[in-house]
Amino acid sequence: MKHELEMTKPDYLIGDWPNKYKWFSWLEYVVSVTNPIFLVTTLKTSGKANANLQSWGLLLGEEGEYWSLMAIKKGQHTYENILSERGWCIDYPSYKDYPKCFEIIYSNGTSVDEIIWDRGI
Ligand SMILES: Cc1cc2nc3c(=O)[nH]c(=O)nc-3n(C[C@H](O)[C@H](O)[C@H](O)COP(=O)(O)O)c2cc1C
Repeated sequence: MKHELEMTKPDYLIGDWPNKYKWFSWLEYVVSVTNPIFLVTTLKTSGKANANLQSWGLLLGEEGEYWSLMAIKKGQHTYENILSERGWCIDYPSYKDYPKCFEIIYSNGTSVDEIIWDRGI
């Protein structure tokens, strides 16, 4: 027997900032469960370190097959860096370092070293 559930955004769900439900799925806000926040670091083609704050992901698997599952938006440096370098590192920062990790989003140029700079991450 097949059950189909209604999958359209309810009218009472109104974004509290412009294009909220264009950038993010409305489902993210109604069926979400708590996710850890972590930092994915990669190498830019310039040789500088890249850091990307993430929450759509988890670690899972078994002996010999342990996976880092991440949902990274296309167009981000991290996506391109992983395709070109085939490597990445996952870091779980302490709560006190969260503001520094958040600031990196605004300092995202290809020539910026996002780890060894004055924020001290
Ligand atoms: C709390 C938080 C969680 C985020 N989680 C993700 C995520 O899971 N996947 C993603 O693609 N972007 C996520 N972002 C957005 C990226 O951190 C942001 O676009 C970043 O600047 C991309 O860096 P990059 O272009 O150097 O890879 C998140 C942002 C915040 C503030």
